[in-house]
Amino acid sequence: MQQYYSKKVMDHFLHPRNLGKMKDASGVGDTQNMRCGDVMKMYIKIKKAGKKDIIENVKFETFGCGHAIAISDMMCELIKGKAIEKALKIGYEDITKELGFIPPAKVHCSYLAKSALKAAIDDYKARLKI
Ligand code: FES
Repeated sequence: MQQYYSKKVMDHFLHPRNLGKMKDASGVGDTQNMRCGDVMKMYIKIKKAGKKDIIENVKFETFGCGHAIAISDMMCELIKGKAIEKALKIGYEDITKELGFIPPAKVHCSYLAKSALKAAIDDYKARLKI
């Protein structure tokens, strides 16, 4: 039988690598899942590399379930070092590939991380007026 919490989910839930605030963020995104009420804030630090905007660092704060925290942390790991356009393409399948099984009832938790990232990038663009 499939374990409800995979080993990797438990690891990122109990030992998140990217948890916390960022004082000098280039963009900050807030989001709330309407289904469960969980909230997430994502901070991104962008560095310019030619015409590309690269996510140099990322932090998150999530008030939510264990899966939401593990998924938020994995999303941070996956987008670090990526151009913002590439980061926006990362989604549920990529996160599941890394974390292992995510129960169907917890699939919506991945949308929390994705929409927080989108909000942070929108904030970054708004600050630059691009
Ligand atoms: Fe709400 Fe996981 S139950 S994000």
